[in-house]
Amino acid sequence: MPDRAPGPPGDRWFGHLRAFRHDVLGLLTGAARDHGDIVRFRVGPLVTHLVNHPEHVSHVLQARARVYDKQTRSTAAIAAICAESLLTATGPAWESRRRLIQPSFHRARLAHLAGTMTDCIDARLARWRPGTVLDVASEMMGVTFAIVGRTVLGADVSGDAPAVESEVGRLLAHVFERWGQPLPVPRWLPTPSNRRFARDLAAVDRVVARIIAEHRADASRDSLLSMLMAARDAETGAAFTDAELRHETLTMLLAGHETTASAVAWTFALLAQHPDAEARVSAEVRSVLGGRRPALDDLVKLTATTSAIQEAMRLYPPIWAIERRAVHDDEIGGFAIPAGSSVIVSPFVLHRHPAFWREADRFDPARFDGVKAPPAYLPFGAGPRYCIGHEFAMLEARLIVARVLQRFRLELAPGHVVAPLPSLTLRLRHGLRMAPHAH
Ligand code: HEM
Repeated sequence: MPDRAPGPPGDRWFGHLRAFRHDVLGLLTGAARDHGDIVRFRVGPLVTHLVNHPEHVSHVLQARARVYDKQTRSTAAIAAICAESLLTATGPAWESRRRLIQPSFHRARLAHLAGTMTDCIDARLARWRPGTVLDVASEMMGVTFAIVGRTVLGADVSGDAPAVESEVGRLLAHVFERWGQPLPVPRWLPTPSNRRFARDLAAVDRVVARIIAEHRADASRDSLLSMLMAARDAETGAAFTDAELRHETLTMLLAGHETTASAVAWTFALLAQHPDAEARVSAEVRSVLGGRRPALDDLVKLTATTSAIQEAMRLYPPIWAIERRAVHDDEIGGFAIPAGSSVIVSPFVLHRHPAFWREADRFDPARFDGVKAPPAYLPFGAGPRYCIGHEFAMLEARLIVARVLQRFRLELAPGHVVAPLPSLTLRLRHGLRMAPHAH
């Protein structure tokens, strides 16, 4: 019988619940430093393990992916919004969805979207006034929401965008709140928070259902949704039903906007704090693009820009925790992982592991120049559940960073404190107050 993994001492009744709720990044980072690459925690009645070595991570996410499924508390919380979908399903239900959706995210297909993405970015930047402080974190949420709305749903969302954006934001915040509760209030109890959740969900669902009906009536529409409608399973010939389309569309809205917004916001925050790195990216953007709109061929030349985004996602990965549940008893690195317990892979902690990163806490984009990202780097996850939107996200992030730096130098507002806030994604605790200055 393998041993229990070591871990920090916790409260007799609640285990590490308090620290999980109040300083989860500090708890995980300190535990990995003090107890090694596999650490056991108790969160109320639940047992969870932090797994913090590329070999163990690959065991969980890749080699034994069938033993570690997504029937976790975080998935259950998200499924309250998007039901069973690519993000939340497991087993054959997930496999058939992935087969149907994957072609819509093919690189050649995405190339087609670069122009729409640039239009959305330009529309937002046209509202920026040089010298006037704004919250760049919320600006980035606005841009990425507009992009995902336009590309996934087609142009029709523009009238609904502000309302849908804040409803989706509240839905995500509610989900994170529930994840932190060991015994969440049952969904059917009419508490103010449950009622607000139901109202927001119904409102977003109505917009999505309307857009699906419009697509059904007009076959000429060109969007990710229209591709999903046309998709047929190569093995069974089956197509998505309307309900499934609603769930998948909602999933793309949820998974596809806050993540990229967080990646680019952190990139701007770190560049503003590191003038040498900022000068390198700005010089590259000027020499590759000058003042013109980026063409697809330009993007491969934006190597310093790409390295800066990768390095920002190393230090502040938007998805800071990936959770799985052990279906059977297993053993990792000589320690027992009992059936029913959960496993957390934290890109935030692994990306700072001193054995795999030189000067791990230093922002140094050049470490990604011309090299393949190492196995201890997984901002988009790993294995079969690898992010389906990673090419989409990298295309979008490079366009945003390049387009902003073509026009502006961003300066942090005096006294603004840059600090992380782990929510469903890794946000900026105080937003990102910056003043754009025209070049
Ligand atoms: C910088 C931006 C992004 C980051 C850091 C990110 C990160 C991730 C990670 C870590 C996973 C794996 C989760 C797990 O294994 O449990 C994932 C899955 C997923 N992502 Fe992303 N993502 C980003 C952008 C996007 C975009 C733009 C879309 C869609 C338009 C998207 C859609 C999805 C979906 C649908 C899944 C589930 C895939 C599956 O389970 O088969 N993501 N993402």
